Amino acid sequence: MEFKLDGVHKVGISELSPVVDQLVKRSNRLGADPKVTNYAGGNTSAKGEILDPLTNEMASLTFVKGSGGDLGTLTENGLAILYTNKIHALKKVYPGVDREDEMVALFDYCLYGKGGAAPSIDTSMHGLVDYPHVDHLHPDSIIAFATSKEGERLTKECFGDEILWVDWRRPGFQLGLDIAEIAASNPQAKGCILGGHGLTTWATTSDECEKRSLDAIAKAEQFIKSKGATAPFGELVSKFSPLTELERHKRAAKLAPVLRGIASCDARMVGHFNDSAVVLEFISHSKLQHLAALGTSCPDHFLRTKISPLVLDTDPKAPIEEVIARVEELHAEYRNTYSEYYKRYATPDSPAMRGCDPAIILVPGIGMFSYGKDKQTARVAGEFYVNAINVMLGAESISTYQPISEAEKFKIEYWELEEAKLRRMPAPKKLQGQIAIITGAASGIGKAIALRYAAEGACVVIADRDFEGAKATAAEIGNSDKAIAVAVDVTDEAAVAATVDAAALAFGGVDIVVNNAGLSLSKSLVETTVQDWDLQHNVMAKGSFLFSREAAKALILQKMGGNIIYISSKNSVFAGPNNVAYGATKADQAHQVRLLAAELGEHKIRVNGINPDGVVRGSGIFSSGWGANRAAVYGVEEEKLGEFYAKRSILKMEVVPEHIAAAAFALVSGDLPLTTGLHIPVDGGVAAAFLR
Ligand SMILES: NC(=O)c1ccc[n+]([C@@H]2O[C@H](COP(=O)([O-])OP(=O)(O)OC[C@H]3O[C@@H](n4cnc5c(N)ncnc54)[C@H](O)[C@@H]3O)[C@@H](O)[C@H]2O)c1
Ligand SMILES: [Zn+2]
Repeated sequence: MEFKLDGVHKVGISELSPVVDQLVKRSNRLGADPKVTNYAGGNTSAKGEILDPLTNEMASLTFVKGSGGDLGTLTENGLAILYTNKIHALKKVYPGVDREDEMVALFDYCLYGKGGAAPSIDTSMHGLVDYPHVDHLHPDSIIAFATSKEGERLTKECFGDEILWVDWRRPGFQLGLDIAEIAASNPQAKGCILGGHGLTTWATTSDECEKRSLDAIAKAEQFIKSKGATAPFGELVSKFSPLTELERHKRAAKLAPVLRGIASCDARMVGHFNDSAVVLEFISHSKLQHLAALGTSCPDHFLRTKISPLVLDTDPKAPIEEVIARVEELHAEYRNTYSEYYKRYATPDSPAMRGCDPAIILVPGIGMFSYGKDKQTARVAGEFYVNAINVMLGAESISTYQPISEAEKFKIEYWELEEAKLRRMPAPKKLQGQIAIITGAASGIGKAIALRYAAEGACVVIADRDFEGAKATAAEIGNSDKAIAVAVDVTDEAAVAATVDAAALAFGGVDIVVNNAGLSLSKSLVETTVQDWDLQHNVMAKGSFLFSREAAKALILQKMGGNIIYISSKNSVFAGPNNVAYGATKADQAHQVRLLAAELGEHKIRVNGINPDGVVRGSGIFSSGWGANRAAVYGVEEEKLGEFYAKRSILKMEVVPEHIAAAAFALVSGDLPLTTGLHIPVDGGVAAAFLR
């Protein structure tokens, strides 16, 4: 291919070399199957010749997945681009394995043009292996070999001289040199298994490389199946037999806030629950304690899962108080063991300890809880532990599971290069790690609050009687890592409890409840029926009471404080005509704020309210009759009602749902930690509704 200098600056990476397109497509196919590699794990590369605008001569470039990306969703922008000969030139300045970390900074001097994505630690392996295509993957079936006591022998037995073995060493320049040497001196070899780690394959074409990776994985699976022991996880422990799905979920929802509190002692965590067959199999068999203690193995795994999980050992049906007492005991032991582990291996240069709570909690009979700073991180930690379970299953089928040593694990977990990656992460959003339930969030003010909280990083539960509307709000926010919809009539005691359970199952617990669901019927005293009265009091006074009560149960168990917010109304203090049922139930809500603020303060639960007025835009209340009625009461046209309210206010400004959402955010943003029992008017200023 020939390029004029001008052209080079205009063409995209994929036009630079046809191998880029092959590489991206191959990576996406490989990354789509969790059996081939874990999320964001592994990397792929291709080498291609281009006419170098710098010299007007042909040069070989290495295109390699950059740091941090995921193969399944890789695009050409996720590729680092380096001169292959410059990567080789690094061998001349390599100071030896003790200082191999310094080599990462030198990759910057090998970049072609602006270089694309940041090169990862595995770049040297891809560049130094003298084949045009290289895959490095973390497949469960291969890691089973890589973590088997007799891994080297079994690799030979299964693969002969096609796939060779290289002993564990931390990823870096030396591992790249070792693998390049194996590839160079074994022309028959298609790849190698990296002890304690994964698989690297090479080939002259992209298709052949992909085939070699997939064949190796399939062959390993087949070998495990044919040679496998019958009970790799030991005997079924009858008292830990899984409960039925319904019972598991009920129990998990009750335990979730307790466990989240445990996992969040050092930093606020979001949770993920998994009770898939493979998890239940692992946690119901006799080798659970032994294998769990050995910990995960692949370097990617324990960065997310911590080196080992906390394993609960109470009867799945034990009274909750008993479970709490035991898990608190185990948690104290866990923290102690973890900080001892840190102290044992930390050197004066080690990064500070990152907290000693478990990231994975296994509850026999029920399932696995995984934790992370946000939902995606929590979910991926769980996925990684499932990878680890598959690895242990494979290793125990063909041999004895033997992950890398604790000292090596420490070197990975507290690797300065990993710490540097953490330091480069953007600052967390204000509500990261917070879980909010917002009632009536299918429409109007509730929807605006949900959108705002989600934009600030919270996980939100859109709870509304209007399920279609709730689903639409959730979809507008994003996927189920960010928002879920729950159908609930807030007047239904059981449904309210089920909503709090749904939040606990989806996100691990709850931190914020916004009592917003409401409706309004404008009638004079004599026209107000008992049904009118009951309906408004049931939805607003009773509905809020129920949500506050059910949420408080979880908040108290969770021991992480929390916030309850009431969307009351100007009408909770203002007295006007044709408003007796609505105004009275709003006054009831407003007094719940004060009562509950006084009662729940000892649990660091703050209870506050907001008094909106005249929010016409987007409000279902206004568009379904109340607006017309109010307009008639005030003698204005219905379309002019927003303007009318604005003119009536002191600031002469129209109130919109986003203003209420801003106040709801201010109350939970962390800037008002000492405020409880307050109502914030958001009404443009209405002197008759001033609070005193
Ligand atoms: N709009 C205003 O000017 C104004 C002023 C003061 C107070 N408020 C209060 O703000 C809240 C929200 O009002 P809005 O204007 O956004 O109204 P809206 O009608 O747009 O939204 C209310 C939501 O509550 C839901 N809902 C009603 N009954 C329910 C039930 N039994 N169970 C579950 N969900 C139920 C509805 O489906 C709807 O999605 C209400 O409590 C209202 O009283 C509104
Ligand atoms: Zn790897």
